[in-house]
Parts: sequence; structure tokens; C-alpha cells
Amino acid sequence: MASLEIVLSLLFFLAFAPWSIYSQQKLLVGMTLVKNATAHGAVCLDGSLPAYHLHRGFGAGVNNWILQFEGGGWCNDIPSCLERAKTRRGSTRYMSKLEVFSGILSNNASLNPDFYNWNRVKLRYCDGASFSGDSKFDNGTSLLYFRGQRIWEAIIHDLLPKGLASAHKALLSGCSAGGLATFLHCDNFTKMLPSNASVKCLSDAGFFLDIHDISLNYTKRSLYHSLIALQGIEKNLNNNCTRLMNDPKQCLFPQYALRYITTPFFILNSAYDVYQFHHSLVPPSADVHGHWNRCKLDPAACNASQIKVLQGMRQDMITALYPFYKNSRRGGMFINSCFAHCQSESQDTWFAVDSPTIQNKVTT
Ligand SMILES: *[C@@H]1O[C@H](CO)[C@@H](O)[C@H](O)[C@H]1NC(C)=O
Ligand SMILES: *[C@@H]1O[C@H](CO)[C@@H](O)[C@H](O)[C@H]1NC(C)=O
Ligand SMILES: *[C@@H]1O[C@H](CO)[C@@H](O)[C@H](O)[C@H]1NC(C)=O
Ligand SMILES: *[C@@H]1O[C@H](CO)[C@@H](O)[C@H](O)[C@H]1NC(C)=O
Ligand SMILES: *[C@@H]1O[C@H](CO)[C@@H](O)[C@H](O)[C@H]1NC(C)=O
Ligand SMILES: *[C@@H]1O[C@H](CO)[C@@H](O)[C@H](O)[C@H]1NC(C)=O
Ligand SMILES: *[C@@H]1O[C@H](CO)[C@@H](O)[C@H](O)[C@H]1NC(C)=O
Ligand SMILES: *[C@@H]1O[C@H](CO)[C@@H](O)[C@H](O)[C@H]1NC(C)=O
Repeated sequence: MASLEIVLSLLFFLAFAPWSIYSQQKLLVGMTLVKNATAHGAVCLDGSLPAYHLHRGFGAGVNNWILQFEGGGWCNDIPSCLERAKTRRGSTRYMSKLEVFSGILSNNASLNPDFYNWNRVKLRYCDGASFSGDSKFDNGTSLLYFRGQRIWEAIIHDLLPKGLASAHKALLSGCSAGGLATFLHCDNFTKMLPSNASVKCLSDAGFFLDIHDISLNYTKRSLYHSLIALQGIEKNLNNNCTRLMNDPKQCLFPQYALRYITTPFFILNSAYDVYQFHHSLVPPSADVHGHWNRCKLDPAACNASQIKVLQGMRQDMITALYPFYKNSRRGGMFINSCFAHCQSESQDTWFAVDSPTIQNKVTT
């Protein structure tokens, strides 16, 4: 019996070990600092140089480009930005200099069939405002740069002479705060590329809803409005949107800005996006006694009334997306029901035997 077990486990080892070594082989890509960015005031919160990671395309993909905005929340007041400036979210000095390229950034055809041979770029996030602020805080003792908009422009100007200027196809994508950046910069990306290039955008988990939380407070709206004021974002929002909205600040929400975007757009989001569930619908400020803690950790532990609240969020998302859906010539969407946040960067949710499907369609 014991020897049979040994034989079986040996067989198991021989059968699966090489496979697991292979599948754990990760593509690591080095960091490129944008050297002359300082001259343009395009710096991270702490004044460090901005950066990206570029892995070159090959074969039939050599003239195609995918740019992926890194995500990572926002900082909407001085204390939180000062804190962030001392971390990898606010300074390239604290970032990993090697990044794993997986999911939509993978170079393996069987893991990323559409983009594996494109030039793939990850834009590092260090401004705290979805690459869209342009301002500065300096009171003599503390100094913070809010230069996301300049960082975005500096990175593009650095990539143009590296081949982006002659792109045939280009996709601007990003996840979470990076997914929001995709909405903000999509049309300008098109403008900066040759007019005969085919340009599209993909936002992953960036469709942040303008909804109230369970205490009827507009927590997300307050956060965005303070972010806009702190980092000087308003002038960089879509002009057509800010001109026509009663409150121009609302144009930071994709549901209002989307109708003014003319570039073909694809929206990938969960209708039960866990980040929005935890931060927009049931933020800690709206559940001080932690009644939702178990439900937040495990959807199976939610009671009937909590499920109803969650389904309300799903309905709000469907309603907000409906005008875009109706006008489907402008793009497409993949809205599933996974308790997820960001599905394009990790292999499991991007393209795997059990990655999310809707009527046999996967995210890729
Ligand atoms: C690509 O991924 C497949 C599936 O994980 C793996 O079998 C194959 O060895 C990988 N190819 C390369 C070149 O890494
Ligand atoms: C500058 O701002 C920081 C952060 O808000 C604060 O701690 C500090 O006291 C301020 N310094 C002056 C001179 O106002
Ligand atoms: C930075 O320098 C490179 C090479 O000198 C130049 O091609 C590029 O346009 C510059 N970038 C910016 C943002 O000025
Ligand atoms: C766009 O036009 C340029 C200049 O005529 C040409 O070199 C390039 O191949 C064209 N690109 C596409 C995608 O047709
Ligand atoms: C878009 O580009 C124009 C110039 O081409 C610039 O003035 C504007 O600030 C940019 N807006 C955004 C949101 O990037
Ligand atoms: C605003 O709309 C006009 C007319 O449709 C268009 O030409 C212009 O490019 C738009 N501006 C922005 C910033 O999208
Ligand atoms: C509602 O939001 C306001 C403004 O952010 C805040 O001052 C207040 O404490 C919030 N109330 C609750 C119950 O979260
Ligand atoms: C569900 O849980 C919430 C939070 O603990 C509670 O307020 C509510 O009464 C519960 N509803 C039901 C139907 O059990």
C-alpha cells in the first residue's frame, strides 16, 4: 500500500512537475524612467521621475501597441497624499523595478491570444489622481506634486519615437484607478496617434458609479469632488462634458463622460465589483458597527436584505450602462457577476479554462 502510494506520487510528480514549473515561469519586465520628465514638471507625488515598463512586440504584432494604466486608488487630501508619497503608490523610488507581465500583458500566445505579440506597456501610477491632476502643494514645510496629466503626456512623448508614432493598432487600457484613467484619456490618445491608426480603449473595473451608500451619503462623489479640487483636475476633464453638466466635477464619473467619448470603447466590469461594494456602497463610514463585515468577506454570508442592496448596485450599473449599450456601434462591454475587481491583469480571470464566461464568451 505504502509503495503504491510512493509510485503514484512519483507518477504524479513526473506528470505535473514540468508543467507547473512552466506555468510558473513569469515574464518580468524592467522599468524605464522618463529621464527628461522633470523639465516638463511631470513628476510623481514626491518629485521622483515617472516610469513605465515596455516589452517589445514581435512578428505580426510589431506595429501594434497596448498601454495599460496601473491602478491603486486615489489620495484626496494632504495627509493621505503625504503618506502615499512615501510608498510605491506615490514614488518610483519605492516601486518594484521589475513587473510581472501577465493576463493582457502576457507574451504567451496560448495565454493572451490577441495581444501577446504587441508592444505591451505598463504605465506606473504615482500621482494619486488617475493620471489627471495638474497642481502642487507647497506650504514651506511640505511639498507635493499633483502632476498626473503631465506624466501621461511625458510617457506618451517618450514612447512616440520608440515606435508608438507609427502604430497600426493601439489599445489604451487600465484597471481600477487606471480603468478610470482610460475614460479620461481615451480621446486624447487617439489625437496623439497617426490618423490612420486603429485606436480603441478598454476600461477594466473603472466604471465607478455615482451612487449613494447605505447611509444615503454620496461617499464616492465626495471623494471625487475633493480629489478634483486638491489636484486641479477640472480643467483636464472632457470639455464637452464639463460645458454641459450642471456640475462639471461630475464628469470624472464615466457614466457622465462616456457619451462624449468618440473613440471605440470596451467596458469590462463586474456588476458586483467588490471595490465598489466595499468603498462606494458600504464604506466603513456607513457601517460603523461592522454589520456588513461577514457579508463583505463572503457573499454567501449575506442575508436577504443585504443581497437586495447588492442587487440594487447591479441594477444601478445596468441602468448607467444602458445608453452606451443601446448605441453599441461605439463599443462593447463584458459585465459579469463575479465578486471581482480587475479581470484583465491576472491570468485566472483573463484567459484560463475556468475564467469568467457569458454565453461561452470569455473576456479576451
Ligand atoms: C505558454 O503557456 C502554456 C500554458 O500555460 C505553456 O504550456 C507554455 O509552455 C507557455 N509557453 C512559453 C513559451 O512559456
Ligand atoms: C504644512 O502642511 C503640513 C501638512 O498639512 C502640516 O503638517 C504643516 O504644519 C504645514 N506647515 C505650515 C508651515 O503651515
Ligand atoms: C525627451 O527626450 C527625448 C530624447 O531627447 C525626446 O525625443 C522626447 O520628445 C523628450 N520628451 C519630452 C516629453 O520632451
Ligand atoms: C499610415 O500612413 C503612413 C504614412 O503614409 C504609413 O506609413 C502607415 O503604414 C499607415 N498605417 C496604416 C495602419 O495604414
Ligand atoms: C487633450 O489634448 C489637448 C491638446 O491636444 C490638451 O489641451 C488637453 O488638455 C488634453 N486633455 C486631456 C484630458 O488630456
Ligand atoms: C467636443 O465636441 C466637438 C463636436 O462634436 C468635437 O469636435 C470636439 O473634438 C469635442 N471635444 C472634446 C474635448 O471631446
Ligand atoms: C456623510 O458625508 C459627509 C461628507 O463627507 C460626512 O461629513 C458625514 O460624516 C457622512 N455621514 C455618514 C453617516 O457617513
Ligand atoms: C441583515 O443584516 C443586517 C446587518 O446586520 C441587518 O440590519 C438586517 O436586519 C438583516 N436582515 C435580515 C432580513 O435578516
